[in-house]
Amino acid sequence: MKTHPLRSVLFVCLGNICRSPLAEGVFRSVLEGERKLQGVLIDSAGTNGYHTGETPDDRSILVARQHGIDISGQRCRQLQAEDFHRFDLILGMDRANVAAIQARCPASATAETGLFGEIALGDASQIPDPYYGTQADFERVYRMVLKASRGLSKRF
Ligand code: 4NP
Repeated sequence: MKTHPLRSVLFVCLGNICRSPLAEGVFRSVLEGERKLQGVLIDSAGTNGYHTGETPDDRSILVARQHGIDISGQRCRQLQAEDFHRFDLILGMDRANVAAIQARCPASATAETGLFGEIALGDASQIPDPYYGTQADFERVYRMVLKASRGLSKRF
């Protein structure tokens, strides 16, 4: 594990429309709003490309807005090989995401990869896919992402 402050992080889920856009927005809000730390590269991507170019899911946009965060300007993109050299940290929301990240990880990668909950909080918590759920599931994802973001911010 790197001990110096990290400079960049990529949040990854399956579709890059529900969980990882929220993580990108919430983590930026924690770093810049709560910690007053600027200049960190924060982005998100999906392991699949089904929604490339789309805005985040309306339910993610809504729950973010309810907590004072605007993620409507984000556009979905798929995880790319270059990401493993551009980012210090690449974090999956659940273990399936982490497996998909590691399956794509080139041998020359410089990024540390892992589970968001494990790297941020030292526990095994996974952030569940809310796509087929209700707005209440998105609120639950928001709260998990906020807790993990506050933990992760200590490494920046
Ligand atoms: P996400 O949620 O991985 O949190 O963005 C999903 C979004 C879309 C799909 C699955 C999960 N999908 O199957 O289209």
